[in-house]
Amino acid sequence: MVRAKQGDRQMTGYANARRIEAMIEGLDLCNATPGQGTTRLTYSPEYRAAADFTIARMREAGLSVHEDAVGNIFGRIEGRQPDLAPILVGSHLDSVPHGGRFDGPAGVVAAIETAFLFRELGLRPDRPIEVAALIEEEGTRFGGGLFGSRLLTGQLDPATLDELRDDNGVSAAQAMAAYGLDPAQAGQAARAPGSVHAFLELHIEQGPVLEAEGRDIAIVDRIVGLAQLRVTVRGRAGHAGTTPMDQRRDALTGAVAILSQLPDLARQTGRDAVLTVGRIEVLPGGANVIPDLVTFTVDLRAPAEEDVLRLIQMVEGTVAHAQGNGLTCTVERQLYAAPTPLSGQIGAALSAQADALGVSHRVMVSGAGHDAMIMADFAPTGLIFVPSKGGVSHAPEEWTDYAQIARGTDVIFATIRQMSGATPG
Ligand code: GLV
Ligand code: MN
Ligand code: MN
Repeated sequence: MVRAKQGDRQMTGYANARRIEAMIEGLDLCNATPGQGTTRLTYSPEYRAAADFTIARMREAGLSVHEDAVGNIFGRIEGRQPDLAPILVGSHLDSVPHGGRFDGPAGVVAAIETAFLFRELGLRPDRPIEVAALIEEEGTRFGGGLFGSRLLTGQLDPATLDELRDDNGVSAAQAMAAYGLDPAQAGQAARAPGSVHAFLELHIEQGPVLEAEGRDIAIVDRIVGLAQLRVTVRGRAGHAGTTPMDQRRDALTGAVAILSQLPDLARQTGRDAVLTVGRIEVLPGGANVIPDLVTFTVDLRAPAEEDVLRLIQMVEGTVAHAQGNGLTCTVERQLYAAPTPLSGQIGAALSAQADALGVSHRVMVSGAGHDAMIMADFAPTGLIFVPSKGGVSHAPEEWTDYAQIARGTDVIFATIRQMSGATPG
């Protein structure tokens, strides 16, 4: 056990911050945009390298490793009672474009570090523990997101993998095949209801509160509701020089008219509703061609379900209203997740272990989506946050001190030790 002085508080800690640093930095070498933030798209060569790195660290920690039918990785500590449903702990390995090194990997690494601690302290659990590294949480490659947890819990129909395509027109099923998986087997990633005892996740806060308050961790009691929509506006292509202004069916002009109204819809909804258009595609994409097809994403979120539903309806109404004048406008719902309460019992266990470790904490609602929100419908789920420097995330500047991740890891470790009935030997 390591004792370290933190301000004027005497800390008692287990996790090895240097080992956590080495794992996060090792994963960050698996990056398509070095020097410009972290880009690691699911099933890409960088993702394969990160998966291999993760498997190697899991094996070093003494875990028996299994890659499931869709590329989720699980490393298992066998229990004295191997038939008991396991505790899952982990997060995701994929990233947003030009994001940070901590969003996802911090939770995977905290879980692997937990396994190292079990081994070093000679602990054996009654109940099996599985360290999880999940695919495509962000939805950067195929849209929607939370694939790993949605496939595991049976919430995403594997047939959809044929339909969802990346920017190059490659379907998720084709990308899986190129990655070495058989898309026809994707359904096997689903676990049976009741087969997971609990899910725990450590994640960076991605907001400014913990740093501002000088607190070590947040225990999340609720995750906001969110929807990802895709709006399509179809017009007619034409020559930029010869088509009179009153004879155009310009899809981009129509899209911009919709887009300009959207932020106000979130403001009208109030009560912490937020809305973001983060991607837009204009086709055919020639400087001297009138656009005939525009698609853009709408990400909207609110803590209260009625607000999420009202905002979706308002967006759909605005898009329907833009129809006409030779334009066809449609909205597709790519993802809907209701606001999710997390397990009060696991929250209480996390809080008790944090108190015992001298780790300061508060309760928080998560404005970001997490695999935990999907897992919460499937098994009792707990989520903790560690501080984000300046509250920055989904950007290259994303940062959390390794000692801060170690403190959060201590809480995850101690909670799992207790929940799994671990004892020496
Ligand atoms: C994940 O980072 C999300 O909140 O979209
Ligand atoms: Mn993210
Ligand atoms: Mn994340």
